[in-house]
Amino acid sequence: MRPEVIGIDTEVRVLYGNRPYIFFDNAASTPALKAVMDTLEKVVPYYSNVERGIGYKSFVSTELYEEARETVAEFLNVPPSHTVIFTKNTTEAINKLARKLRDFIGDGKVLTTEMEHHSNFLPWRENYDTVVVPVEENGRLDLNRMEDLLKREGGKVKLVAVSGASNVTGFTNPIYEIADLAHKYGALVAVDGAQLVPHKKVDVSRGIDFLSFSAHKFYAPFGSGALIGRKDLLSRGRPESVGGGTVKFVSLDEVVWAELPEREEAGTPVILGAIALAAAMEAFSKWGMDNLEKAEEKLHARLYEVLSSFDGLEILGGERRAEDFPVISFVPKNMSPYLFSSVLSFEYGIGVRTGCFCAQPYVKKLLGVGDEEAARVKENLLKGKLPGLGAIRTSLSFYNTEKEIDVLNIALHDIFGRNSFDYDYDENLKAYVPRGFKFTLPF
Ligand SMILES: Cc1ncc(COP(=O)(O)O)c(C=O)c1O
Repeated sequence: MRPEVIGIDTEVRVLYGNRPYIFFDNAASTPALKAVMDTLEKVVPYYSNVERGIGYKSFVSTELYEEARETVAEFLNVPPSHTVIFTKNTTEAINKLARKLRDFIGDGKVLTTEMEHHSNFLPWRENYDTVVVPVEENGRLDLNRMEDLLKREGGKVKLVAVSGASNVTGFTNPIYEIADLAHKYGALVAVDGAQLVPHKKVDVSRGIDFLSFSAHKFYAPFGSGALIGRKDLLSRGRPESVGGGTVKFVSLDEVVWAELPEREEAGTPVILGAIALAAAMEAFSKWGMDNLEKAEEKLHARLYEVLSSFDGLEILGGERRAEDFPVISFVPKNMSPYLFSSVLSFEYGIGVRTGCFCAQPYVKKLLGVGDEEAARVKENLLKGKLPGLGAIRTSLSFYNTEKEIDVLNIALHDIFGRNSFDYDYDENLKAYVPRGFKFTLPF
């Protein structure tokens, strides 16, 4: 499947010439698939706005946009009780959901967890009384603890908002068990699928009330995402955002809202983004999700073997499990992670991510940061400086290779064998850059 991914052999300029780029930052965004680009190339000449246009191109675009919705529904086995709403990304989907559930949650509570990305934490905390399930020392959720909290709250919890998989550790959560647990205590479940959907088969019909995810993490980086959820709840009240496309009828003093999903897609939707996402899902179906999962399992095992062989690195989170996916974060014991990742990038052409990955409470817990250090980090962040703390994340995907992991292995050996690095912090790139190296665009 590797040749089906765009840009994998791109050569990039490093300190000593050019190197094929090794992309180990797939958890942030994945590259586009050829199938996606081919589809867009075919569709763009026929592009037009959707709905209500009377003209061939408008009919074509409307048909393709609605077909994209069906493809997404099929891919995730979405039951007829649910709808697929296209959004801009996961963050927008979760914010929309948080506002839509205002009536349902009322003065009840939302239970979420310490391992969440900020996008599945702040929308809840800013709108509702939240209860947070702490993660265990090994970075995992303990469902007994979750159940204890649900019991303790005595029916107050109306929604459990949980990530399907962590963008920091690659740990997956047992979402169907969590759904059963939530339902047992009278709550619904909303799964942040940003990391889960691109890596594991997800079946919404198995009790998932709401699911959100982003197309840019699903090989279709053209500005779309989706919120999938129960029609009975999403059709309540007025649309979350109002305007064109959300109504059946408007007069100067009256409005009749449209049906789902249109009523929740205010304004012109991300038409090409939705079609691109469907093309990526069709390619996945053709290749078989099981095959992709198997490829990732092998890469995961090899990546862990390499990273855990270095005494100078500390891997975040406890032991790995077969159901996790190849995202591993680590901290070099005696070197700034920011400098370390710059060396990987500027000398070996390996692209990774450094910091707290928009999951500050989780990373803080995994790093065992105490109150004093946390206060110092906060001060640095508020002053716009590097936090002075963070990890390096390697996130692989089915198209990466064991050879690329071998290059990482060599790079790590080299770095641990050196004791000086001629790098300066560059305010523009927000990264350490080799002294004298000038970053330029490739074209
Ligand atoms: C687990 C998780 N949730 C939510 C998000 C937010 O996704 P987006 O930036 O596409 O809205 C991310 C992005 O990294 C993520 O990893």
